[in-house]
Amino acid sequence: MESEDAAEPDAREPRTVAHSEVMLVQQMTQLEANLLGNIHGGVIMKLVDNAAGLAAMKHAGGPVVTASLDEMAFIEPVFVGDVVTLRASVNDVGRTSMEVGVRVDAENYLGTRKVHTSSAYLVYVALDATGRPRPIPPLIAETAVQQQRQREAKLRREARLARNEAIRKARAAEE
Ligand SMILES: CC(C)(COP(=O)(O)OP(=O)(O)OC[C@H]1O[C@@H](n2cnc3c(N)ncnc32)[C@H](O)[C@@H]1OP(=O)(O)O)[C@@H](O)C(=O)NCCC(=O)NCCS
Repeated sequence: MESEDAAEPDAREPRTVAHSEVMLVQQMTQLEANLLGNIHGGVIMKLVDNAAGLAAMKHAGGPVVTASLDEMAFIEPVFVGDVVTLRASVNDVGRTSMEVGVRVDAENYLGTRKVHTSSAYLVYVALDATGRPRPIPPLIAETAVQQQRQREAKLRREARLARNEAIRKARAAEE
């Protein structure tokens, strides 16, 4: 669970996408390497969850938990010494949950190679003091890009709900 000390915000007070924006920058070392000498994919996934969790907490103004992570592709390898930059912001909100988008870029320390390594979408749920889901502020998507991300996030939410419902029905039919 990600947490912070601030009191729970007024859930009716809308917040902008910009309010949730997070940038994390970290240089990769041998400690993060796999047997091939490249950076372990799990290290990047943890950084993605860290950056996205911070964005979700900023929007929710309190503790959140990771509910799900959509498919995450590794487009380019990340090497020891690379500087990894993660940019995260809230794409869309439901009642108690929110989708966060994260983009990961890697650059060698000379600045001569810069690649987009991954993008991911994660869902977080805000929790109250008793650990139950709690309502979060509405989201204001101000720019055309933010509005496009919000529309696409709604499509992904519908697809997730439809998939979960289909699996629930299939399991019920097997019993
Ligand atoms: C996430 C969790 C709080 C949801 O609890 P729940 O009892 O299913 O809650 P609800 O059914 O009331 O759903 C609450 C919200 O979560 C969303 N949600 C629940 N499961 C989800 C999933 N697997 N993927 C995406 N969203 C999910 C629901 O759509 C709902 O969103 P909305 O309020 O915006 O419409 C609960 O499953 C949990 O605690 N999971 C463990 C989280 C965790 O430990 N994460 C890793 C460490 S941080």
